[in-house]
Amino acid sequence: MTAHTSKTLRVALAGLGTVGAGTFRILTQNAKILESRTGVVLTVSAVSARNKNKDRGIDLANVAWEDDPLKLAVRDDVDVIVEVMGGEGDPAYALVKTALENKKHVVTANKALLAYHGTELSAIAEQNGVSLCYEAAVAGGIPIIKMIREGLGANNISGLYGIMNGTCNYILTTMERTGENFADVLSQAQKLGYAEADPTLDVGGGDSGHKLVLLCALAFGCKPDFKNLSVAGIDRLSAEDIQIASEFGCRIKLIGQAKKLEDGRILQMVAPSLVPKTSPLAHVDGVLNGIFAQGDFVGPSFVEGRGAGEGPTASAIVADMMDIAKGTAAPVFGVPVNDLAASPTATASDWSGEFYVRLVVEDRPGVIAEIAPILRDHRISIESLIQRGRSQDEPVSIVIMTHEAKGGDIADACTEIADLSCVLDNPLVMPVLNI
Ligand SMILES: NC(=O)c1ccc[n+]([C@@H]2O[C@H](COP(=O)([O-])OP(=O)(O)OC[C@H]3O[C@@H](n4cnc5c(N)ncnc54)[C@H](OP(=O)(O)O)[C@@H]3O)[C@@H](O)[C@H]2O)c1
Repeated sequence: MTAHTSKTLRVALAGLGTVGAGTFRILTQNAKILESRTGVVLTVSAVSARNKNKDRGIDLANVAWEDDPLKLAVRDDVDVIVEVMGGEGDPAYALVKTALENKKHVVTANKALLAYHGTELSAIAEQNGVSLCYEAAVAGGIPIIKMIREGLGANNISGLYGIMNGTCNYILTTMERTGENFADVLSQAQKLGYAEADPTLDVGGGDSGHKLVLLCALAFGCKPDFKNLSVAGIDRLSAEDIQIASEFGCRIKLIGQAKKLEDGRILQMVAPSLVPKTSPLAHVDGVLNGIFAQGDFVGPSFVEGRGAGEGPTASAIVADMMDIAKGTAAPVFGVPVNDLAASPTATASDWSGEFYVRLVVEDRPGVIAEIAPILRDHRISIESLIQRGRSQDEPVSIVIMTHEAKGGDIADACTEIADLSCVLDNPLVMPVLNI
């Protein structure tokens, strides 16, 4: 009987923070399972991080250390680079590019890097016959990349809608549960470690945008492009918005949506949106993520799970490594790079549907009479209107639910409305999703 000898896939980890250390832990703890499922031994040859002396709770005694992560890309004892440092620029960009040019596979969790440089990096991967995998970059532990690229690969996808930022979803869920305002809930989230000290990328919608761009590229076979994306965050929402949305039978969620318009253009936008309580997306609570996709043959599909954290994110990283070990990794955006269509051009102004518009106005007669003609002139009709009074002589909120209107018309009308002397703050506008 001949002894069974497995092949070996030699890995370098660039970054040993939450995701990097988690990846090392899975590779160690589940080594036998990984080998039996791939027929390949996955070993870590080398690592890099900023601080060599930090205790990370992992045993790096038999692993080479590089102070400069770029050196990992030229080592002879490395087949796969796992880039988990983060950031759209260097050293992550230089490392991934150099690694691919040196015919090393790359696994990354870095959505920002791919949202800006995905087309260029996928072309380099293809030219060099290596894989560039990023399951961990979108919705952490939920296998959404594989689902869209492979599981739903037989379908013409008409749209996808996702809650892709756990920090925002935690804040919105807590605001709804406690009735507290955005700023108070954000500061509690920061104390609990659910929000970064600088929360701009999360609450401003940029992080969801990075992820949406990647899903959009996969679903529609187009070049990822973060620049052509409308992004609005949750930082202007009040507890009152959440309560009024509820009276309309909806919950407010930060939704990234990508869909094909009737004229064939692809629209991508991130915006706080009213979601009917009957939609599965309305019930994605706390730090969870959820994504709803509509395919022509499969119909509606919905997945929910943990979008961040050490375990879920590292789980996705190792799944990508297993595909590389088995030789089953797919083209980066589902089709050869030369077949990718141009980047999406439609944005929020092309979105059609009902809108929620909240105005803060002076508490005096005649205000509605000033606003109504502006709406009429922009072809916007009112479905219902709620006025919330406060104490005497204080501003009041007026919430208008429109009939179907175009985002561009709503934006133009709101610019004019904001100029009225009776309007005291920029209007808050949210689309209403009918899914
Ligand atoms: N955390 C999550 O739940 C999650 C989920 C999905 C995707 N991601 C993505 O995964 C990536 C990593 O996230 P993370 O949460 O693991 O970040 P993290 O905990 O801050 O870890 C970053 C690691 O990169 C190292 N590093 C940073 N700059 C470096 C440099 N110039 N040279 C060498 N090493 C450097 C750090 O070294 P030191 O430890 O020495 O400081 C650290 O080990 C990011 O792209 C993030 O967006 C994270």
